[in-house]
Amino acid sequence: MGDVLTRDAKVALIASYASKPEQIVNLLFRLQRTSKQHYIDQKTAQLVSDHLKIPVSGVYELCSYYPILNVKPQAKYMLKLCNAAPCTLVGGEMIRQTLEAVLGVPEDTVTEDGLFAYKSVGGLGACDQAPFIKVGTKVFGHLDETKTKQLVHDLQNGHYDHEI
Ligand code: FES
Repeated sequence: MGDVLTRDAKVALIASYASKPEQIVNLLFRLQRTSKQHYIDQKTAQLVSDHLKIPVSGVYELCSYYPILNVKPQAKYMLKLCNAAPCTLVGGEMIRQTLEAVLGVPEDTVTEDGLFAYKSVGGLGACDQAPFIKVGTKVFGHLDETKTKQLVHDLQNGHYDHEI
């Protein structure tokens, strides 16, 4: 996947922050938003370094410090599971195993097509819909194996792109 901004457009954006070093996180976030895989790639980090006269290691330090910034390609759809006991007891683990089998990657790993990754996190606040998968702000609740496979299929086909 390529980036939305050309190199020249990135340079122009970076240059517009030359006199505002205190806003570098905003700049990095804006650059990240132009990346189809939502991350600061090596070339972009180098451009920031070159044009703002800071070491490239400093750019990466900022990216590591701020959770909103990524240095690795992100999946188009991050599927979140709840790994707290109430959700696990009613089928959360089955959902995780289904995703592992269907997507063919371990947790927190982007599929080869860049579309999916899944992650178990604690307490997503949708206990009443367990077991569920949360994508963006949307909760897909009361899942079983069949519904989970169908959800992956529907996401692959962009079925929910207007909702998440
Ligand atoms: S315990 Fe999982 S959402 Fe509440």
